[in-house]
Amino acid sequence: MAKKTAAKKKATPKKKAPAKKTAKKKAAPKKKTAAKKKAPARKKAAAKKKTSKVPKKAAARRKPKAAPKAAANPRKRETAESMSKRQREISISEFFTKNRHLLGFDNPRRALLTTIKEAVDNSLDACEEAGILPDIEIEVKPIPKQEDRFTVRVRDNGPGIVKKQIPLIFGKLLYGSKFHRLKMSRGQQGIGISAAGMYGQLTTGQPIRITSSTSKNRPAHYYEITIDTQKNTPRIQRDDQVDWDHGHGTQVEIDLEAKYQKGRQSIDEYIDETAIANPHVNISYITPDGKKRVYERSSQDLPPEGREIRPHPYGVELGVLIKMLHDTRSRSVKGCLQADFSRVSARVAGEILDKAGLSQKARPGRIARDEADRLLKAIQNTKIMNPPTDCISPIGEELILQGLGRIEADFYTSVTRSPSVYRGNPFLVEVGVAYGGSLAEEGAVRLLRFANRVPLLYQRGACAITSAVAETSWKSYGLGQSGNNLPVGPAVILVHLASVWVPFTSESKEAIAHYPEIIKDIKLGLQECGRRMAIHVRRRRREADAAKKRDYISSYIPHIANALRNILDLTDRKEARIKTVLTDVLEKSRKL
Ligand SMILES: Nc1ncnc2c1ncn2[C@@H]1O[C@H](COP(=O)(O)OP(=O)(O)OP(=O)(O)O)[C@@H](O)[C@H]1O
Ligand SMILES: [Mg+2]
Repeated sequence: MAKKTAAKKKATPKKKAPAKKTAKKKAAPKKKTAAKKKAPARKKAAAKKKTSKVPKKAAARRKPKAAPKAAANPRKRETAESMSKRQREISISEFFTKNRHLLGFDNPRRALLTTIKEAVDNSLDACEEAGILPDIEIEVKPIPKQEDRFTVRVRDNGPGIVKKQIPLIFGKLLYGSKFHRLKMSRGQQGIGISAAGMYGQLTTGQPIRITSSTSKNRPAHYYEITIDTQKNTPRIQRDDQVDWDHGHGTQVEIDLEAKYQKGRQSIDEYIDETAIANPHVNISYITPDGKKRVYERSSQDLPPEGREIRPHPYGVELGVLIKMLHDTRSRSVKGCLQADFSRVSARVAGEILDKAGLSQKARPGRIARDEADRLLKAIQNTKIMNPPTDCISPIGEELILQGLGRIEADFYTSVTRSPSVYRGNPFLVEVGVAYGGSLAEEGAVRLLRFANRVPLLYQRGACAITSAVAETSWKSYGLGQSGNNLPVGPAVILVHLASVWVPFTSESKEAIAHYPEIIKDIKLGLQECGRRMAIHVRRRRREADAAKKRDYISSYIPHIANALRNILDLTDRKEARIKTVLTDVLEKSRKL
């Protein structure tokens, strides 16, 4: 109530100042009374201790003699020294144990998907890098007598893993072969599979189990590994040689707490979509109910391998440039620019150095921070060719159509755009659309998002692909749409972003960051498919209209024939003949 009065008085500007005072005056005694009523015992105790716990304001009014400092502020304050005792390094594994949601392990259902996804992504990457057509076996098996616990097993026919690398790959976060390069692959961070193992260890206490063989003539190695999260190092629980009759390849088994549920964002959906974007893959999937589903490869050719490229100078930031100058093997800055970056010829390097006011022979190790700054500005002011784009391997229009063919529709189209660049990184967009057929008329379209051939099932709202689709105007292409929402109608829209470095919004790799260059390119792809779809939709509508009219007119034919028969006193045969002639005329006019 007191608050209300104060607020009302505030509304009258003239009385503002005194009103505040009154409010304060009123409030102060109220507090006092409340304090008196509420805590007589506390008061007694305070008297006993001879240290007063009177509220600050009241204390100021009474102007007590200087009280001892400790008593006025009873809470023990930290000092720089006491804080320093608790300051220590945080290991990456500890960090992600606390923040496992950042890696896609925030609930048991998603954890199951992420685990399978990480293992399958690795298997496909390894097979493709080794030039092997992938055969993947996925099994999700409930652990008997343990509710909500499953064993996930993923086996591939890839090149296998060298023995001494197995513990580090599966028992150490941030250890991998893909982070330090610019090459199109599904994995890029070096966290995926070890994080899945760590989640399993955290929820079931069980180690990750790996069997790997690099050749059918060499023994297979079997490891059981846990992660020492404090040190982010592997702990080997078992290291054996085992019989393995699958040739070369790797098998990963993880026990974990999980939830299996069909439908959207399920592992079934992930595997379906993986088969769409990877027609060269054979997948056999044993469901938790023990049923085996086989996805036969529809293409016998491996996708062309994306080439590894050096960073483009336009994408480099000051800190990175300083580090590159420091780490380079070249003896001069000019040599470093030419050797460590893509698209920098001797002429371009010379032009950059001139603009930066640096000598052609300047030593990279001796470049000061402000000189590096000048160098960066000179790079940005020099015309440098776009990065090479043959480093990206698209799925291809034909194979997208083949993949979409798994969905029953009556119109399909696809577009592979020419490559483009964001922050110095080449990327390429592909779009596919399936329309009509068995697809539901009501509700939003189904949007299939892919990054480097991997289906993205979570964080749809945070993804640049979703924004590009929602910001495209679909009404002119024959779909419904309200505002900037996903379009509505019987369609499936597929968008694939391929890049040497996909800019994910988080470590769980589920949403693409909103780079304007990427959004623009996706929109152009969508518009092209949209235009083709619109032609089909319009034709279908015209045909439907004509069919409706024909049905309407043809319903009159028997009546006309009957009327003519009555007027002209015709025979049955003649009446039938009239019917046939009129139907023929109608058919011919429709064709015209
Ligand atoms: N099945 C496999 N066959 C061969 N090599 C593998 C396999 N699984 C993992 N590796 C190797 O282990 C490395 C680490 O895998 P991990 O999944 O942790 O990281 P990544 O795939 O490099 O990146 P990301 O964290 O984005 O998945 C890979 O870079 C690869 O070199
Ligand atoms: Mg990986």
